Amino acid sequence: MRFSTSSILLALPLLGAAAESPFEEYKAQFQNFLGQFGSYIPSPNRHDHADAAASKAAKKMDVLSLDNWKSTLYSPVKPGATTPEEWWVFVTGRNKTCFGHCLQVESAFNETAAKFATQAKAPHMAYLNCDDQPILCNSWSASPGTLWVFEMLPPPAKIDIYLKRFNLTTTTSQDFVKVYESGSKENFHLHDGYFHPFDGPLATYGAAVPVAYVLWVLNVVPSWAMMLIISFFSRSMMSRRMNNMDGQRRPAAAAAAAR
Ligand SMILES: *[C@@H]1O[C@H](CO)[C@@H](O)[C@H](O)[C@H]1NC(C)=O
Ligand SMILES: *[C@@H]1O[C@H](CO)[C@@H](O)[C@H](O)[C@H]1NC(C)=O
Ligand SMILES: *[C@@H]1O[C@H](CO)[C@@H](O)[C@H](O)[C@H]1NC(C)=O
Repeated sequence: MRFSTSSILLALPLLGAAAESPFEEYKAQFQNFLGQFGSYIPSPNRHDHADAAASKAAKKMDVLSLDNWKSTLYSPVKPGATTPEEWWVFVTGRNKTCFGHCLQVESAFNETAAKFATQAKAPHMAYLNCDDQPILCNSWSASPGTLWVFEMLPPPAKIDIYLKRFNLTTTTSQDFVKVYESGSKENFHLHDGYFHPFDGPLATYGAAVPVAYVLWVLNVVPSWAMMLIISFFSRSMMSRRMNNMDGQRRPAAAAAAAR
């Protein structure tokens, strides 16, 4: 077979390009993959800024996210204050974390926020949706349908948090208002677990969010995919160990042959 000089000259740049960037090629493939399947990968930190702004304007209710929760809860706290600022954070979810059962209790809370917005002494109101904020919910170990009452004092004071579950199907705004008017924490329980967002051991050692990510990944990655990944890794470790053993055996075999 004969190649003309011109065809070789034409092929050279192509070869060069291929050798230059296997990485670029993988990256392109990966981006293509993400483009196709990205919409199936759930977001760990979804925050709808327009909805949050509308909620703040209409009913003075903040929407919490992984990035804003701490600054939001501390925002009304004045330095040196000794009376706590009370926050009511309602933890809710949609289909993923509440199986679609949270609508009634969630709208009751939203309605309550609208009522409280006109009252100067009412608690600050905030909304946390675990479908949008799985990492934040995991890091607090919070489950939908629960009211978290935060008694915020300036740092480094410890923060008391009281929890109460509400009936998902029967709760109305009147039930929240009654709790407020009674002014008591009867039927609440004081949060003092590992996952306390401010003073728990996980939060103080900065482990709450990493742990939350691990829990989230375990939850999101299907178990068959997990098995595949584990078996892949253990196999490649095994073959690497075998190669090492080979390497160690060879000098001994060579020595035996020399004898
Ligand atoms: C959530 O559940 C409701 C009712 O069960 C259903 O109509 C809706 O399509 C679901 N939404 C999603 C995103 O799966
Ligand atoms: C409650 O308010 C939040 C924040 O504005 C909103 O995202 C959510 O859809 C509301 N829930 C209901 C049931 O109206
Ligand atoms: C919610 O209230 C209804 C009616 O009182 C009751 O049947 C149901 O068991 C309650 N749910 C929970 C979780 O307590």
